[in-house]
Amino acid sequence: MNILVVNGPNLNFLGIREPEIYGKQSYYDLVNFLLAYGEMNDLHIEVYQSNSEGEIIDIIQNNYSRFDGLVINPAAYTHYSYAIYDCIKSISIPAIEVHLSDIYSREDFRKSSVIEPACVAKFYGKGFNSYTEAINYLIKGRN
Ligand code: DQA
Repeated sequence: MNILVVNGPNLNFLGIREPEIYGKQSYYDLVNFLLAYGEMNDLHIEVYQSNSEGEIIDIIQNNYSRFDGLVINPAAYTHYSYAIYDCIKSISIPAIEVHLSDIYSREDFRKSSVIEPACVAKFYGKGFNSYTEAINYLIKGRN
């Protein structure tokens, strides 16, 4: 099974940005964690990150056809990017929204997601494990 992971703006700053919220581990740690999880579970996982909305759309459009599922942390774009919503709606593979933090216990603007209706599930608040929960959901859906 092939899983595409896409991370949005400022996630490359993990370990630097607000460690009390996002933890002390770096983006490099997240990528290694996901690749190791893929190896353990016999999955092919590719992980991308961009700080730009258009580049996130290009990554999805150019790669989705090689994958069985998309795991996306759109970061702040979650809350207002109809362009990323349209992009996810236009692809034929299931998408799952993930967040490291518990978006429901933070500022009000984080409670709303324009991406959610384009996704089959959403996992949040578990740090790196939000991603593995999403991957496990895709694995189960495969059967
Ligand atoms: C985030 C939550 C978003 O609200 C925020 O803008 C991010 C990260 C998370 O993973 O918890 O950049 O998506």
